Amino acid sequence: MSKSLVFLIGMMGAGKSSVGRCLAKTLKYKFIDTDQLIEEQEKRSIESIFKENGESYFRNIERDIINQFDKKKCVYSTGGGFPIFNRNIDKLKVIGQVVYLKTSSVVLLNNRIKNNSSRPMFQDATSFEKLHKQRESIYCEADFIVKTDYKIPEEIASEISLLIE
Ligand code: S3P
Repeated sequence: MSKSLVFLIGMMGAGKSSVGRCLAKTLKYKFIDTDQLIEEQEKRSIESIFKENGESYFRNIERDIINQFDKKKCVYSTGGGFPIFNRNIDKLKVIGQVVYLKTSSVVLLNNRIKNNSSRPMFQDATSFEKLHKQRESIYCEADFIVKTDYKIPEEIASEISLLIE
């Protein structure tokens, strides 16, 4: 299978979508956001999916959507829990290169996730940090880890493009 797929993983607010768009532009790849893909498929928001059907329903969609992924020249930004549940990270690593955007909880909480209304997994700072810690070891199984604190998307995207060459 082609390795011209790049998957950006990391916590909510890590900048996966903005970095993904920049990276796709640099590489001349297509850009796909898995949350957006799910919203289009379900014809409703992630927030509504969580409210109406619960988290496990959403995690099943995430698991199944991997089979629908474009196989060529594509940068994917994935939801924060995507690589974690069902150990989807294993499947992502088989079909593409996985890059962890490593952002500290402090930066995420202070600068990035102020608009929480559309983030069903965000409750408060303490549980966010706990969730981050729980997920960290799986995120670190990525093929590449890129630190993102205080960097702009263009800078991060250019670092990634050098790594995955
Ligand atoms: C989630 C993160 C969200 C979205 C859903 C669940 C999570 O995506 O997939 O609300 O479990 O961390 P972002 O990481 O793009 O915010």
